[in-house]
Amino acid sequence: MTVSVMFVCLGNICRSPTAHGVFKSLVNELGLQDQIIVESSGTGGWHIGESPDKRATVFAATRGFDLADLRAQQFKASDFDCFDYILAMDKQNLRDLEMLRPEGYRGVLDLFLSFSAMKDEDVPDPYYGGDAGFEHVLDLVESASKGLLAHIQEQAS
Ligand code: 4NP
Repeated sequence: MTVSVMFVCLGNICRSPTAHGVFKSLVNELGLQDQIIVESSGTGGWHIGESPDKRATVFAATRGFDLADLRAQQFKASDFDCFDYILAMDKQNLRDLEMLRPEGYRGVLDLFLSFSAMKDEDVPDPYYGGDAGFEHVLDLVESASKGLLAHIQEQAS
């Protein structure tokens, strides 16, 4: 069985590439790369084709996560045909995705942090802030990634 996961933020250069890189690393560690497909995108198109924000890449690297090869893309309505899980970084991202959601979508469209053990609902946008924002994103993303992987494994068992 194959499960596909799409992480979505606004620009696809800070939060969702971090989620992409962290979750993919957990998937690879467990040898599940053929069973779990991982992607990320942004609701906006300003950064299409760009590498993740330098700060996101550097802070992720200090924790052993490699974001260097990721390139920004914009979420498209047809992604609903391809992804079992479409996970938004914040409530505004989720509202934007809900506008595109086709009637018959049978997958999971939700906040990524619904899979986290932490109580936060949103992964706050770190783009205009300082370094602490990027560390906080990593803390939230690491927690939710573990929860999501446990959930997917439980569904498959
Ligand atoms: P992200 O952060 O949604 O976590 O990738 C942002 C990146 C760029 C912009 C906004 C948020 N921007 O306005 O260009």
